[in-house]
Amino acid sequence: MAIVGFIFNAKDQQQMSKVRASPSANALPYKNPHAKPTSPLLSATPRRKGIYIASSIAVYAFTAYGFYLYTTLLAEPDHPLPFQDTDVTDRYHTTAKHFDADVSSTENIWGITNLRRRLAEQAKGDVLEVSVGTGRNGVYYDLEKIKSLAFVDQSGAMVEIARKKWNSLHPGYERCSFHTQSAMDPLSASAMPKAGFSTIVQTMGSCSTPTPAATLAHLGNLADPNDGKLLLLEHGRSYYDWINWILDKAAARHADKHGCWFNRDVGRILEESGLVIEKVERSHFGTLWFVEARPGVRGGGELVARKEETKEEREKKEGNSNGSAAGDEQTVVL
Ligand SMILES: C[S@@+](CC[C@H](N)C(=O)[O-])C[C@H]1O[C@@H](n2cnc3c(N)ncnc32)[C@H](O)[C@@H]1O
Repeated sequence: MAIVGFIFNAKDQQQMSKVRASPSANALPYKNPHAKPTSPLLSATPRRKGIYIASSIAVYAFTAYGFYLYTTLLAEPDHPLPFQDTDVTDRYHTTAKHFDADVSSTENIWGITNLRRRLAEQAKGDVLEVSVGTGRNGVYYDLEKIKSLAFVDQSGAMVEIARKKWNSLHPGYERCSFHTQSAMDPLSASAMPKAGFSTIVQTMGSCSTPTPAATLAHLGNLADPNDGKLLLLEHGRSYYDWINWILDKAAARHADKHGCWFNRDVGRILEESGLVIEKVERSHFGTLWFVEARPGVRGGGELVARKEETKEEREKKEGNSNGSAAGDEQTVVL
């Protein structure tokens, strides 16, 4: 090898001296015929490098998510769920401790973190956040614009994480309260502003709650009827049938594991909620909804609630089906 290297080097030297001696040597820079080609990434400008890296991350994220969906498609749910939209909210009691670790990198890669920031920064006045989970929006609230904050979630484990996070972010901040309860239950009088809430926030809540439209209608009733605003970030079905096919196939297993039905029709939920929808931005193939809304007609929520059944209602109805008033409509009190 050393001899071959020496011969090549000797040849190179001869060629170089010929090039240097030739009259056109100044016009044509010498190119070593044995030099290894450089990678386009190494020779790219910093801007191009950024584009290459961002595209590679996007392709990686898309492929990984596709692979995850594909493998979940092939697997049966661990505990077969009795029906689409079965109440799976109890899953959060066990997933709470690793919820942030599970979702953080995906949210950063898919730009969801930025959407959270955009949404929470708009909150002002008396603010209610329901289905707060581990308090992932807490860091983005602009406390200069906010008079008070009430955080609600029915999972005590999630609320405790949200509370700890908030207290370490804003030690000594006294104008906030945490409530472990359903968003559908009445709030304590001390947390309820006289005029209603100026801003109500819910992110990724409609996928989890058993009665999403009724919950939104109820939230509309808690908002200030004159000036209240609802800010929602929700996910569900896509514009594309092939994505919906995947979501439908994987939904039961995903819901069983994570407590979230990711194949819900957010458009229909909004329509049924009776809220006045002022702005909708859909992204991520139409699966992600950034929504700004105003309260609808007061009491509209009750009508909506009749259309939806909770797990308990369905079980009660099924239990009653031997002779009693099977099929009777149940009303959820708002
Ligand atoms: C997917 S997590 C979203 C958490 C958080 N909002 C976020 O964006 O990361 C859904 C949360 O909604 C809560 N939840 C579901 N139904 C609820 C209800 N009816 N009332 C209050 N919280 C509810 C669950 O306990 C869970 O913490």
